[in-house]
Amino acid sequence: MKILIVNDYTEMSRKAANIVASQIILKNDSVIGLATGDTPKGMYKELVRLYNNGDIDFTEVKTFNLDEYYGLDKTNSQSYHYYMMENLFNHVNIKRENINIPNGMAESIEKECEEYERKIEEAGGIDLQVLGIGRNGHIGFNEPDLKFEAKTHLVRLDDDTIKANSRFFESIEEVPTLAISMGIKTIMHARKIILLASGEGKAEAIYKTVKGKITPEMPASVLQLHPDVTLIVDKKAASLL
Ligand code: F6R
Repeated sequence: MKILIVNDYTEMSRKAANIVASQIILKNDSVIGLATGDTPKGMYKELVRLYNNGDIDFTEVKTFNLDEYYGLDKTNSQSYHYYMMENLFNHVNIKRENINIPNGMAESIEKECEEYERKIEEAGGIDLQVLGIGRNGHIGFNEPDLKFEAKTHLVRLDDDTIKANSRFFESIEEVPTLAISMGIKTIMHARKIILLASGEGKAEAIYKTVKGKITPEMPASVLQLHPDVTLIVDKKAASLL
């Protein structure tokens, strides 16, 4: 596990964007796994800037998002689909058919999950996966549990996660309680992983990710077993290391 400790959110975002950009420059048809939430917003902004500068071209890039809320339509402003369009896809030349986000409105969730795994495999697997981390150590929406869930699946969100994500909704009652998420095996199969974390609130999760026991009760700890993971953490998130 490589750990890059940076000064602040801005530096974290720029470093992460540069890593994604160099992946795309070196392999123009890269398959990139993407995250949502507050953490990668600055990275997306920087990627849009690099695109506008002519430094990166998304024509052949394929993307797979980690997760989506169950029961939210693409057009719902709280959906991760909406978030991705707003923060990245509407601003770069990615082909719409190359964007993959689990469909939270799928009639058969089981089929949707199987199909998602199949599409990732057909694309040749994920070259670079971008991750954020929950305060409880979740990656994607793989919540602390007694076992690791391997593949894309339906998840019941933790009370902690619902509370944390209620900041994006008008009230806590509006936060979906279910989501579709890539599994731990899906994530671990990515050739490279970068995990971003900023702020004191993530310090304990980062400490346990790096130095803790590998356990499904702290899902990010499994990253210790991946051969190519880089943590990009600001000083506050790294304060317990
Ligand atoms: C989002 C995702 C989540 C977030 C995590 C941190 O697609 O998979 O694991 O990365 O909840 O969220 P923020 O960045 O809002 O603190």
